[in-house]
Amino acid sequence: MVERRLPRPAEVFELMRFKRPDFDGRRRRLEAALTIADLRRIAKRRTPRAAFDYTDGAAEGEVSLARARRAFEEIEFHPDILRPATAVDTSTEILGGPAALPFGIAPTGFTRLMQTEGETAGAGAAGHAGIPFTLSTFGTTSIEHVRLANPEGRNWFQLYVMREREISYGLVERAARAGFDTLMFTVDTPISGARLRDTRNGFSIPPQLTPRTVLNAIPRPWWWFDFLTTPKLEFASLSATGGTVGDFIASAMDPTISYEDLDTIRDMWPGRLVVKGVQTVADATRLIDRGVDGIVLSNHGGRQLDRAPVPFHLLPRVVREVGRDATVMLDTGVMNGADIVASVALGARFALIGRAYLYGLMAGGREGVDRAIAILRSEIVRTMALLGVSSLEELEPRHVTQLRSLAPIDD
Ligand SMILES: Cc1cc2nc3c(=O)[nH]c(=O)nc-3n(C[C@H](O)[C@H](O)[C@H](O)COP(=O)(O)O)c2cc1C
Repeated sequence: MVERRLPRPAEVFELMRFKRPDFDGRRRRLEAALTIADLRRIAKRRTPRAAFDYTDGAAEGEVSLARARRAFEEIEFHPDILRPATAVDTSTEILGGPAALPFGIAPTGFTRLMQTEGETAGAGAAGHAGIPFTLSTFGTTSIEHVRLANPEGRNWFQLYVMREREISYGLVERAARAGFDTLMFTVDTPISGARLRDTRNGFSIPPQLTPRTVLNAIPRPWWWFDFLTTPKLEFASLSATGGTVGDFIASAMDPTISYEDLDTIRDMWPGRLVVKGVQTVADATRLIDRGVDGIVLSNHGGRQLDRAPVPFHLLPRVVREVGRDATVMLDTGVMNGADIVASVALGARFALIGRAYLYGLMAGGREGVDRAIAILRSEIVRTMALLGVSSLEELEPRHVTQLRSLAPIDD
């Protein structure tokens, strides 16, 4: 028999600890987001469909991106027990400078389209968190303004080599003058991948108002308010011609870029040089042998060649070939700090985040990017502590098994 008594008002009162209501909607929204997937849901609600899909989508059947995310889900961790790791140190050195966390912000084009604060929010948040920010050639904030948004921190510049070489070379010079310390040469974009969502949405640069976009705008008034009351969306360093992103890339990009271009850029650029978009062991080896300072294993977040190799799967083989001293970085599909911890354990020096940061941006501007970084940071710290390691150097391949639902057929 359970013994019963009358409830005592003082005890009930003690249970009633109501939080003071927070009237700052943005802060309330962001605090409720515990994962990057939560930020994505908020972003989707608040951003017009064409802009959200441009960010969220990938090429063709979007298989590369789904596989990359699945590869991270298939991580199995092996923790060390009875090894207390109370003070976890997440700092590292990358490309000759410090980073407070083992990841940085990847270059993304058209960023102010997603949310009007765009690159300023990304660069400011990166600087505040002590991680590098990468500005895209197709950025919507100028090189000089990014520097102003992140004056003390590290800025990197991503380069597309275009048909008109002089435009690209001019950007390289400006980035050097503005104190950017690393140049990231993207090589997986000879032509644009088929972003079918963009075509279906009739997405164009700059955005066009059609009856459908107007209808879609009704529940998203703040985005439109921001869009219409802030400086016109333009490439900060280039001039756009109109049409879809694919049309723009087709007119601007040179599909004949080669190792000669790499050598030319090497001669022009005073800082560190990284090649982004490496997808085979052979190319990784060739580039490291040629003396680049780092490589990024990436399939452009699944936005270029669909069904390209999953960078996380490629990682151990590349590291085995080029050695752990080479600077191997990776991106595509990172949605959780644990993905980054596993990558470091398997020999990556650093990761880049594209959509994870953009979901934060769309969910709440600068504070949203701060939130995305904070979520990833806490996941990294927690994963390391639970693995029983207190610094990134202690992470080893033995901490991770890559389970695979997809395995090559041996003949
Ligand atoms: C909206 C968007 C725009 C992008 N624009 C560029 C770009 O201009 N240059 C570039 O090198 N990569 C670009 N990328 C690729 C990212 O740098 C990065 O490789 C990719 O986002 C990583 O995958 P994740 O989004 O799953 O993190 C873009 C990615 C997205 C999502």
